[in-house]
Formats: sequence, structure tokens, C-alpha cells
Amino acid sequence: MHGVITQMTIRCSKKSLRRILKLLLFLIDVLFIPGLSLAVFVYFLGDIQQLFHINVPHKKHTSGQSVNSWNWRVESYSDFVYHRVSDYVTDDITNFLIAAAPCHPPDKPGMIYNGTANVDYDGLFLISTSASNLENRRILRHLYNRYDNTKPYRIRAVFLVGRSSDLIVQANIEREDYQFRDIIQGNFTDHYANLTYKTIMGYRWARLYCRKVKVMLKMDDDVYLDVFKFFDYFLPIIPRRRRTIYGFLNFQPKVFREGKYKVDKGEYAKNTYPDFTSGFFIVPTLDILDELYQVSKIIRFVHLEDVFTYGLVREAMIDVQLVHLDTITYEWKVYKDCVNDYKYRCKYMAVESPLSELLSCYDQVMTFRRQLGLPGGADKETQLRH
Ligand SMILES: *[C@@H]1O[C@H](CO)[C@@H](O)[C@H](O)[C@H]1NC(C)=O
Ligand SMILES: *[C@@H]1O[C@H](CO)[C@@H](O)[C@H](O)[C@H]1NC(C)=O
Ligand SMILES: *[C@@H]1O[C@H](CO)[C@@H](O)[C@H](O)[C@H]1NC(C)=O
Repeated sequence: MHGVITQMTIRCSKKSLRRILKLLLFLIDVLFIPGLSLAVFVYFLGDIQQLFHINVPHKKHTSGQSVNSWNWRVESYSDFVYHRVSDYVTDDITNFLIAAAPCHPPDKPGMIYNGTANVDYDGLFLISTSASNLENRRILRHLYNRYDNTKPYRIRAVFLVGRSSDLIVQANIEREDYQFRDIIQGNFTDHYANLTYKTIMGYRWARLYCRKVKVMLKMDDDVYLDVFKFFDYFLPIIPRRRRTIYGFLNFQPKVFREGKYKVDKGEYAKNTYPDFTSGFFIVPTLDILDELYQVSKIIRFVHLEDVFTYGLVREAMIDVQLVHLDTITYEWKVYKDCVNDYKYRCKYMAVESPLSELLSCYDQVMTFRRQLGLPGGADKETQLRH
């Protein structure tokens, strides 16, 4: 009897064990395998998203590596969190509220043309200036817009300004426009943060009204330039160059998050910029004007105008070459020492200069040239003194 019970118990427990096993297998079948598949699917979802260029927020992107602008737009999704319309240079912003007289008769009929401007210019100087810098413009007009002082070269210097809320400053701008027709004023506030608009506006104007000059220069209003050295150097080489920007090259430039050149991560997320040339003195070949202007409208705005124009926009144009000039400097002392040591054999053609020194630099250059019997410029000391 006892034996029978034991046998039954064993048979019974064997049966239930098999049942439990079956149930377990069933559970594995029904739940575990699909679960695993789901987990694997979710794990690879990130890659699938990337495959179709769906952006994954907060995904870190590699910095400092050079990528073309289209990849760049996809990679740095986090930038778009901060997106606003004003993040681009629009036509509304670079429209001319005041436009300087054209350099030559227009290609297209219907453009405004002041017939007195029909001169074959050797150079166009686009000069970025603060609306309130009346004195700089007075001196620069004297140095560049008077044939007497630049003979045998003919220059058209025009000034790039923004809107001013100061009524006196704005009235002065309008008076200068009336008197000299050399002011280009854009539809943006005249402010350090808006310099990028100023630059693009300048190229937009040049492209429309002054594209037949031989050489074009874009510079700041605190730069002294020896126009003779400038044309002697550039007139022979520019006609043989295509798609080039000359200037002071910044190689693998770091992004500053503090100080004067501060740019925060919302404006530009990577740690380095593409190579660019400093904005105080830029000589671009004229064949890139159209493209520069068009591409500037589709690259995300950075308020440092030289980083934006000669770094980001230039890079997106793919095959534009930057050429470093070692004949320009932004260090006044370096220039002075060089001139003291080498006189007119000093290599520099341009220097960022204190306002009070602009005229004396010119006088010094003219003295050197007279001593060496070189042609050019006025015969006597420059007349603009107060
Ligand atoms: C100036 O810009 C504003 C938008 O900021 C626009 O509404 C206006 O039409 C622009 N003016 C001109 C003359 O383009
Ligand atoms: C053309 O420009 C000259 C000065 O450059 C000026 O005296 C003259 O009034 C202008 N004419 C017109 C029609 O704007
Ligand atoms: C220009 O700069 C001012 C001051 O920083 C800013 O408020 C404004 O939005 C900028 N842009 C334009 C188009 O004026």
C-alpha cells in the first residue's frame, strides 16, 4: 500500500514537472523571443534614424573635423534648438536704404545711374565704418577718393553703415550721401553684432553696381593703406587668379567662449572654425561675388563677420582658395618699427592704425616716394589739416 502511494506521487509529480516545463517553454516562445527582438530593434533604431538623416537630439557631434556645410546642418541638430529667422542673412536686412552712386553705367536698364560716375576705376574700396565715425570717413575720402592723392590709380571708396537711432548721426549720414554719393546704408541697426550684415551688404552692392573694376578691397575704416604698393602688387596678379581670397590667414582657429570674440554654443557649437582671413583687409577676386552673396543666405549666421564670410561661407563654396598676405599687419608697433628700420623697403602695405596717424602715414609714404624719385600722389604735403 505504502509502495503504491509513493509510485503514484512520483508519477504525479513527474506529470506536473513536465507541465511546468511546457509552460516555461511556452512563455519563452511567446514572451522572451519577441522581447529580445524588440530590444535589439530599439538598440539599432538610433542607427536607422541616422541612415535616413532623422536627427537625434542631444547626440554629441565631433568637433573640429572639417565637414561640408550640408553634413554640418544634419550633424549639429542641437544648433536648431536655437533656430530663429534672424539666424540668416536675409535680403530684407541687406537691402540698401541708401545706395552709393554706381561706378559705371548699369548692365540692366532701369537701374539708377548718376552719369557723373562714368570713370574706369582701377580699384573699389568697400570700407566698413561705424555710422558715427564721421572723422574717419573725412580722412579716408581725402586719401582715396581724390585722384590727386592716388595718381596714377583711380579708386572708388564707398562706406558701409547701418541704421542709427541717433538723429544727428542719421542726419549726417544723409548729408554725406547728398554731398558725396559714397554711402551705402543697410536695413539693420549700426552695431558691432551686425557687422556680418554690413559685409554681405557691401558685396551685394559691389556685385550690382561696381563689378567692372580691376581690383576690389574690403577693409575697416581704421586701416592705413599705401595705395601704390597695393596696386603694384595686385594689378598684375589679380587678372590671372580665379576664386581666391587674399588676407591675413587664421589657421585652424579656435572658438572663444569668452571675451571680445565670444561666440556661445547656441550660435556656433564646434570648437574650431574653418580657416578664415581677418576682416580688416580682404582682397577677393571678383568672380566669386555672386556666389558669395547667394551662399551667405543659406549658411547659419555667426556675428563675427570674417569667420562667417571667409570661413563658413567660403568653405561651403568648396573650391575657393585663401592666400595669406604677410604684407599686412594689425599691429601698429610692428609697422612703425619696420618703417624705422627699413624706410620704404619695409614690406608692409597696410596696417591697422590709430585715427590720428592715418594722415601722417600718408605724408611719410609720400616723402619716401619723392626721395626715391617714385611717381604718384600729390606734389606737396597733404592739405587736410585742422
Ligand atoms: C527692413 O526690414 C524689415 C524686417 O526687419 C522689413 O519689414 C522691411 O520691409 C525692410 N525694409 C526694406 C526697405 O527693405
Ligand atoms: C551726381 O553726383 C554729383 C556728385 O558726384 C552730384 O553733384 C550730382 O548732383 C548728382 N546728380 C544726380 C542727378 O544725382
Ligand atoms: C542688430 O543689432 C542689434 C543690437 O544688438 C539687435 O537688437 C538687432 O536685432 C540686430 N539686427 C538687426 C537686423 O538690426
